[in-house]
Order: sequence, then C-alpha cells, then structure tokens
Amino acid sequence: MSWKRTHHCSELRAEHQGESVCLNGWVDVRRDLGGVIFIDLRDRYGITQVVFDETDKKLHEQAEELRPEYVIGIVGEVTLRDEININPERETGEIEVRVRELIIYSKSKTPPFEIKDQIETNEEMRLRHRYLDLRRRPVQQNLILRSKVYNTVRNFYHERDFLEVETPFLMRSTPEGARDYLVPSRVNPGKFYALPQSPQTYKQTLMMAGMDRYFQIVKCFRDEDLRADRQPEFTQIDVELSFTDEEEVFSVHEELMAHIWKKHLGIEIETPFPRMSYQDALHRYGSDKPDTRFGMEIADLSDLVADSGFRIFDKTVADGGKVLAITVPGDGEIGRGAMDRLTDEVISKTGAAGLIFIKSSEEGLNCSVGKFLDDQTVEKMFEIAGAERGDLVLILAGPQPPVYRQMGALRLMMGSRHELIDTDKNHFLWITEFPLVEWDEESRRYHALHHPFTSPVKEDLDKMEEDPSNIRARAYDLVLNGNEIGGGSIRIHDRELQARMFRLLGIDTGEAEEKFGFLLDAFDYGAPPHGGIALGYDRLIMLMAGTKSLRDVIAFPKNQKAQSLMDNCPSSVDKSQLDELHIQLKLPKQGKH
Ligand code: AMO
Repeated sequence: MSWKRTHHCSELRAEHQGESVCLNGWVDVRRDLGGVIFIDLRDRYGITQVVFDETDKKLHEQAEELRPEYVIGIVGEVTLRDEININPERETGEIEVRVRELIIYSKSKTPPFEIKDQIETNEEMRLRHRYLDLRRRPVQQNLILRSKVYNTVRNFYHERDFLEVETPFLMRSTPEGARDYLVPSRVNPGKFYALPQSPQTYKQTLMMAGMDRYFQIVKCFRDEDLRADRQPEFTQIDVELSFTDEEEVFSVHEELMAHIWKKHLGIEIETPFPRMSYQDALHRYGSDKPDTRFGMEIADLSDLVADSGFRIFDKTVADGGKVLAITVPGDGEIGRGAMDRLTDEVISKTGAAGLIFIKSSEEGLNCSVGKFLDDQTVEKMFEIAGAERGDLVLILAGPQPPVYRQMGALRLMMGSRHELIDTDKNHFLWITEFPLVEWDEESRRYHALHHPFTSPVKEDLDKMEEDPSNIRARAYDLVLNGNEIGGGSIRIHDRELQARMFRLLGIDTGEAEEKFGFLLDAFDYGAPPHGGIALGYDRLIMLMAGTKSLRDVIAFPKNQKAQSLMDNCPSSVDKSQLDELHIQLKLPKQGKH
C-alpha cells in the first residue's frame, strides 16, 4: 500500500470522478452526521472533503478517533456530490473522496486556539505557537504572496542586467541612523562585527569594482524602537547603479511597482509617479510620507494672525513659528464633550501644546479663542482654511517644523476618523529634495537626513560650510499611501567632497579614515558616478496584502520588545560561552530594564 499522495487538497475536480486517490493533510473540521463522518482535510493548497460511511466498521471506528489537527493520509475514490451538497465557495466543492484506507501519521493535542481565518486570540499566544498560526489561511496567503513576489522581483532585475551579489552579514558598522546589533569575535578578543543596518558601503564598493548594476534581496538589522511598521530584522530590495541619475532610478522602480501590482494583484498602476518636494510635503501634509489619498491640506494662517492681538498667535509668529489650520468637513457642530476629548487626544498623541478651533453652523462662527480676536479675523481664518459653513477648523500654533508634524498627525487622525481615506486607491509618490543635514540640538551637531554618502545638489555646494541647513540632497523616498516603502540617493563619488561631508557631520579625519577609509581609498582608484535605492520588502508585502502590521507578512517576527516568543530569544548564554568571547556582563539593576 503506497501512502504517497497523488494530489494535494485543492486539486480534485468533477473530472476526477471514479479515480482512486491518496491525500495527506491536517484534519480541519470533523462532522459526525448520524454515522457518516465528514472530514475537511487541509493542506497549504486548500481543503477537500473526505467521507467515512459505516460499511467498514473498523475504518469507521478509526475515523471516530480523529480530532482537529491530526495529520492523516487517506486512500479513496473521488465521487460527485449531490447537487444540493455542492459547495461553490470551495475549489473542490463539487466532489468528495469516499475513504477506503486511513493512516494517522500523528495526533494533536487540542490547539490553544482554533485554526481558522478570523480569530480573536491575542497576538502573543499566536506568536508563541507560530507553527499553528502559520496554518491559518490568511497568514499562509501572505507568505505565498511574499514568495511569489520574490520571484518576480528577481526576474525583473535579472532581465535588466542587474547582478545579484551577496554581501557580508559580519561587517563594520554602516551609519543608517539606528543602533547596531553587535557580534563579538572569539578569535579577535575585544573586537566586534556589526550586523548590516544595510549593505550601503558594500554596494557602493561594488560600483567601484565595476559591477555596474547590483541588486540583492537582503536582511538588514537595526536596533531601534519598534512599531507596527518596524522590525529589528527586516528585508530590503537593495539596488545600486553606476552612471545613473534620479530619472533612471525612478523609471526602473516605477516599472517594477507597476509590474508586481499588475502581476500579483491584477491592478494597473499609473506611471510615472507624481513627485513632491520635501518642503511641499511637510507644508501641505505635515509629513515627509504624506497620505495623498485624501485632501484636508494644511493652511498657513501665520501672516494673517501675526499681529492679531492674541498673545499665543503673535508670539508664535514673532518667534519664527507657524499657526496652521485644517478643515474637517461637516464637523462644525461638534459637541463640547467630543471637542474636549479631541483636544486631550491631540495633546497626548501629537505633543501639541493645545488645540484651537472654529466651529460653524447656520448661526455663525464660534472660535475657542474668539474673545481675543475680532470677528473679521475669525472670518478670514475660516476662509483661508478653505472651510465652508458646517465645517470645523482645527488650529495649532507652535515652533516649526514640529507644528507641521503635529498637524500632519492630526490630519491623519481626522482623515481616518471620518473615513475620508479611500483604501482602494494606491497612491505612489516620490518625495525629493530632502535637506542634506539637520541640526540636532541635543548632540549639538548636524546629522545626515539620509546617510553621509548622499550627494548634495550641485547648486547648493557652496552652502556646505556657511549654510548647511539649506543644502538640498539628491535623495528621494518612495511613498505609498502614507508609508515610506523605499529610500535612496545619488551618492558622492569624490574623495574631497566626501571628506567635506564627514567634516560637516563632525566626523573628524581620523574617525572617517578608521571607519570608512576603504571607501575613501576606493574613490582614489576610479569611482563611477552612482546611486541607488532600497525598498522595504516587508512593508511592500504588507501593503500589497492589505494588512496593518509587518508581523502578518514575516514568518517568524519579533514582538514589540524585539523578542521571538516561539524560540524564546534573546536568551541567556552559558558562562563558558561568554568566557570564550572574552565578555563579562554588567547588567542593569533589576527594574531598570
Ligand atoms: P533606508 O534606511 O531608508 O535606506 O531604508 C530603506 C527602506 O527600508 C525599510 N525599512 C524598514 N522596514 C522594516 N523595519 C525597519 N526597521 C526598517 N527600516 C527601514 C523602509 C525604508 O524605506 N541604504 C539606504 C538605501 C539607499 O540609500 O540606497 C537605506 O537603508 O521601507
């Protein structure tokens, strides 16, 4: 008797009627209908109904033992279902298999949660038993999509002469702005490798090596605070091209996006994608990754209220800050309680100092700080905000740029609360002309907004020493529906300019030599102009799959504390292992972590 399966569980159709088949899989559901036992047999591909009648007593007794998640094999005959029992929802719904032989490969304890599409179980339980969670269809579908898209992406780049090159995981730290995961070296006492935050320095070195076009689907590691759209290890589609410019990077990746959306989701994406400068994005949407699927753009009231007589407005503007407004359509008669709750929420979630509003109804306008302003000013504010009778205007005042970001967060809050976001839309957008550096008050130095290898815009080069905050970078991000799904830049390929950039960032010659000497040296031996991009693969799949968390599209994700609950890591290690690595622990006092 061979138990080798002849078909998987979504393969059999009416045309297989009368065939003897062997299926393997998990018991999904067992129904006992007055002697006849029906089993839904499940594997990765689908479900087939198999039936045990009472003709063979022993077989029937065996079937009575079956419980959900038992792994079994059956041999039987494909039969057509009666018209009334056909299940049009299921690919195999026209047939069932009448079982002749049954083998139980393994039994299962009652699982801690049901293996079905929609479950309420908390995520911790699901992650602890991820092998069970991964049997659920929605999670499987996500991984199947992820796997298929890999293939499409690979072929796409191969067809365009990109070389797939693997770069090391044990490397010297690359600055991408997060903390490194470090790996101690046993044979080099006191020395550490860093896991790549990205293969940035390697891919640039590959361009020096004449590889011309490179790509890699690669794991990156960043020890940063986690959110739903951030994992400590994640996957990038990493790309670099020689003799390139922004236009080529954009067009290749617009083509890639359109291709995978069409092939895997059946959706036509319009290209080229719109472009928006960083300044514009910040001023109009309060974000460098604006969700442009809805309007509610930010209006600037600063000029109007600069000398309004209301101290908060006057002082904000005098100090170089901004008074900004958005309009919430149809919310003009919001009640006092709802408005108080909104104010508390805005203060706690966006960090704004307070929320000012103008309500409107048939009777007129009602501004929360109306007693400090004349009616004409309130009317004008309402008008500049683009509001109409019946709308609500929300106003924030504060230093910039924070007030823009606070307004951006408020805009998103109101957009989703009022269901203004059309989730059927796919709004791709390039954000361009990022500032090269930004001043960090805490460390009192400039930080690269992208990374230190990004080229400044040529026209801004003379600001490098005098006016660094106003240098534009040749950097770009790809944004989809308010998510940053990729980022890249045209790089510096000149040793002198790179040295100036390091100086601007407060990295002295010694440190630059020590950390990036190899790259600077490579510039001395014929460096082609080059540039590239990295796309966040997990985020891409998350958006394609229509889920809200990266954990839904990663087989074995970490939780918010960067732990893997299934294999329980990170974990302690033996003292002998630490000794071998020449490491002594200095743990924080209990409760500190
Ligand atoms: P960047 O740091 O912008 O650029 O990263 C590129 C893209 O990777 C994704 N991403 C993440 N996804 C999940 N979890 C994280 N913790 C995480 N961090 C980043 C984002 C992001 O847009 N070397 C440069 C690229 C280049 O210049 O070519 C880089 O890594 O979608």
